[in-house]
Amino acid sequence: MKHHHSIFMIRKSRCSNAIVHVALFCLLMNSSHLVLSQSDPAVMVVDVSKPVADVQPTMWGIFFEDINFGADGGLYAELVKNRSFEFDVPMMGWTEQNKGKFSINRESGSMLIMNGTLKASNPRFARVTINSDKGYGITNEGFRGMGIKKDVSYNFSVWASQSSGDAMKMRIELVDAAGKVLGEGAVTPSGKEWKKYEVSILANGTEPKGKLNIWFEGKGTVDLDMVSLFPSDTWKKRANGLRADLVQLLADMKPGFLRFPGGCIVEGRDLDTRYQWKKTVGQLENREQMINRWNTEFAHRPAPDYFQSFGLGFFEYFQLAEDIGAEPLPILSCGMACQFNTAEVVPMDQLDPYIQDALDLIEFANGDINTEWGKLRNSMGHPTPFSLKMIGVGNEQWGPQYIERYQAFVKALKSKYPAIKIVTSNGPFPEGELFEYADKELRGMNADIIDEHYYNKPEWFLKNSTRYDKYDRKGPKIFAGEYAAQSVATVSPDNKNNWECALAEAAFMTGLERNAEVVTMCSYAPLFAHSEGWQWTPDLIWFNNLKAYGTPNYYVQKLFSLNKGTHVLPMLMGNTPVTGQQGLYASAVLDKNSGEVVLKIVNASAEPKQSNVELRGAKQASASGKFSMIGSETLSGVNGFDQPMAISPKEGTVAMKGKKINLTLPPHSFSVIRVKVN
Ligand code: AHR
Repeated sequence: MKHHHSIFMIRKSRCSNAIVHVALFCLLMNSSHLVLSQSDPAVMVVDVSKPVADVQPTMWGIFFEDINFGADGGLYAELVKNRSFEFDVPMMGWTEQNKGKFSINRESGSMLIMNGTLKASNPRFARVTINSDKGYGITNEGFRGMGIKKDVSYNFSVWASQSSGDAMKMRIELVDAAGKVLGEGAVTPSGKEWKKYEVSILANGTEPKGKLNIWFEGKGTVDLDMVSLFPSDTWKKRANGLRADLVQLLADMKPGFLRFPGGCIVEGRDLDTRYQWKKTVGQLENREQMINRWNTEFAHRPAPDYFQSFGLGFFEYFQLAEDIGAEPLPILSCGMACQFNTAEVVPMDQLDPYIQDALDLIEFANGDINTEWGKLRNSMGHPTPFSLKMIGVGNEQWGPQYIERYQAFVKALKSKYPAIKIVTSNGPFPEGELFEYADKELRGMNADIIDEHYYNKPEWFLKNSTRYDKYDRKGPKIFAGEYAAQSVATVSPDNKNNWECALAEAAFMTGLERNAEVVTMCSYAPLFAHSEGWQWTPDLIWFNNLKAYGTPNYYVQKLFSLNKGTHVLPMLMGNTPVTGQQGLYASAVLDKNSGEVVLKIVNASAEPKQSNVELRGAKQASASGKFSMIGSETLSGVNGFDQPMAISPKEGTVAMKGKKINLTLPPHSFSVIRVKVN
């Protein structure tokens, strides 16, 4: 063991990349340099000639929720917080300025929040009155600052109406935390009619804590709404776009599906604050902003400035799914608010509007452009359908009230759209009374896909790698919709995305893969967290205003997804699947497209393990295979902004001995091996 640690240490302290590969290569080969475990080699047999089930293309996907500033302040690239003054405290995020000092000289100018209308769904706007040219301005602080990048252009826009006096010039500045100007531009609103004004500003410096200043010149009154600032380098350079670095991390996973928009956010703390997709589509300025339920959820992580602008709405989610090649999976409210909060339910005789929302969503996604909702999709720039195949009814609901409502949804959805698959929930826990009740009821109704959630300690994940071995092959399919190993406890703010958790998830995932006949979709949750704006840990991807990194858990998910294969192969130790014997967990698939066998092996023990894998049933195997291995010196190892790839896959090759692979698996490691076979 000491010896292995020293190899990792060489890697960290003074090795070039080439030596890293040699070191890892040695680890995986049956090298005589290594001190081997004293126990017998683990002998595993993969029967290449006996695929037992298909692996669905949807197998490994993404769960997105607007939690931890995942949308506003995160994926959605808007830099202005509270752009339309609709937060409960309408000036939140904004300050008035007089020549850079935070004092308000009412003689020079003032700002009032009016409750009039640009649009009925967006009633508030700001009225700025300038009395003298002493230098009145307003500043937006962004989401824990604004990330500004040198040589990138920023598109400023504002809806404005000049209500009296001269046409006033608005001088727009991007500034760093100390107030140094990084770029400027100007717009001059004129005329009473509400119009959109735009200017592009090139930044001459990089700053994680930037701000936006607007200085007013002239005398008069101007009304402002939808004050916006977007970087020009959004994903696919789209206006109203997404942060390219964050989308790239998702695209790199080649996810099979994208579930949106949550999570509990779908349910709302009460029914009024449930997610309503119709309010998130169409013109931006018409979308009705709402509090984010995570604003007040945890007293230990209050987020009073967390709202949903819905600039990232259902159209944008569908578009994102399409961009990254993922099947869209929208989840809708089933007429029940979060049962951990108010547990409000809509009476059964008033459920129709909720069901209608689901029917209309299918039309929005798939309908002809002459249908009511298909027409709206077309008007937003997407005439071709989004090819929606599944829809979720409720998030983590439980009890007879859910079953009753779910049945009503199924009846209506299946009679109009028989081909659509319905994802149902069996509550927040993977066992216990609520789980068993829902499981029995849903199986009784022959549900299409049941969503199971597990937030548990790493030991639970190791123990449950056999969870699906006995599930009914002919029953409903399973969507492992939310899982994450918790290093401390569920919802503890001290949870870490450490290697121990990621490794336990990898072990558990070999069980998901082995049971791909039943488990057809899987996703880690939550997905994103802003390093200063989070409410929930652990999370798959962390970001600040300029950077982002994947956690060790991200690299585990990614390795499974990039190596999902097409067919499950039996992989046995003795006569049983590899589910913890000698600390090993393993699964195998065939990739018919590339003609490769793909092995996934977790060594969860603290010892190196000598392992011999035989590819039985293959006529021939290539002389060498490829491997990717993730390991860490310590189980508590994590990635961070300064060492984003510390725990990430290292690649290499492994020699074959005929149809056998002899490996020495490092302690606490996860390896993926690909070998071409005939
Ligand atoms: O992923 C965080 C939360 O965990 C989700 O919103 C909810 O579905 C689950 O309880």
